Amino acid sequence: MAQIDFSGRVAIVTGAGAGLGRMHSIELAKRGCKVVVNDLGGARDGGGASHSAADHVVDEIKALDGQAVANYDNVATVAGGEGIVKTAVDAFGKVDILINNAGILRDKSFGKMEEENWDIVMAVHLRGAFCVTKPAFNFMRDQGYGRIVMTTSGAGLFGNFGQANYAAAKMGIVGLTNVLKLEGAKHNIKTNVIAPIAASRLTEDVMPPQIFEKLKPDFITPMVLYLCSEACQDSGTIINAAIGYYSRTAILTGPGAILSDGVKIPTPEEIQDNWAKITSLEKAKPLGQLNEIFGDFANLLQ
Ligand code: NAI
Repeated sequence: MAQIDFSGRVAIVTGAGAGLGRMHSIELAKRGCKVVVNDLGGARDGGGASHSAADHVVDEIKALDGQAVANYDNVATVAGGEGIVKTAVDAFGKVDILINNAGILRDKSFGKMEEENWDIVMAVHLRGAFCVTKPAFNFMRDQGYGRIVMTTSGAGLFGNFGQANYAAAKMGIVGLTNVLKLEGAKHNIKTNVIAPIAASRLTEDVMPPQIFEKLKPDFITPMVLYLCSEACQDSGTIINAAIGYYSRTAILTGPGAILSDGVKIPTPEEIQDNWAKITSLEKAKPLGQLNEIFGDFANLLQ
């Protein structure tokens, strides 16, 4: 079995002062990676800031003879994103790996969702992914190598009551990944997505304690390490991970129905009559990019 090794590699892990990001950072460092441990050190809802979370993880890595530096920037600002990438370049000369992991929660049912709770969750998760990834991506493009792991959530992929802001942001990250997989391809930048289920302060009050204890973040990290390794040749793949279970989620397109010769406009009644065929996912497939859907009705364009 080929060894997954990160010697000589430099990684940025955002939100690495706790939970999943802490575990990713420690395991990367154990395998020779130099790590920028970014964490704003705020509360679960995004309030406040402190250096202690990132500093503590850097101390843990150094105690294991690993190499790490702390960064305390807010991922949700352009200056913060640039500062995080600058920390990597100043300390270690480059950036090969970016794990976008920082996150907060502001759960409310949609009818009660205030603008502020919508905006801050979008800012940390989706804007944060933009602010940090852009300078990292440009660096990776120029050096001709990069691995990016985005962190989404089943709340966005499948839906979860009370998490409209979070779900929308987490699906935005999937859309961003769909484009980065294309724009990074010729520069050997692979971007993949993890959808974890794990015990952390974000999930401590949403699961029964006996289940919470079993869902160790340790189970997520091996998948993240594979996704950000040189060995991983996938790009744009979404992986669910929890307690040793790993699976792929994809957006699939069914074969559909052709209800026109390309000139005649179908009626709503024809849509109604063909609903089962239009919505069938039998023989559904993932599409690699937008243009591929044209292939399914190419004969109508001639
Ligand atoms: P966590 O709360 O333990 O860790 C998140 C870290 O991000 C915290 O240390 C926090 O200080 C940091 N952070 C928050 N806002 C930041 C900002 N603006 N800039 C820099 N750092 C910031 O939570 P956990 O569970 O480890 O979450 C990690 C990621 O995984 C998040 O993106 C979360 O949405 C995602 N996720 C977690 C799931 C789970 O089951 N734990 C499920 C699905 C997704």
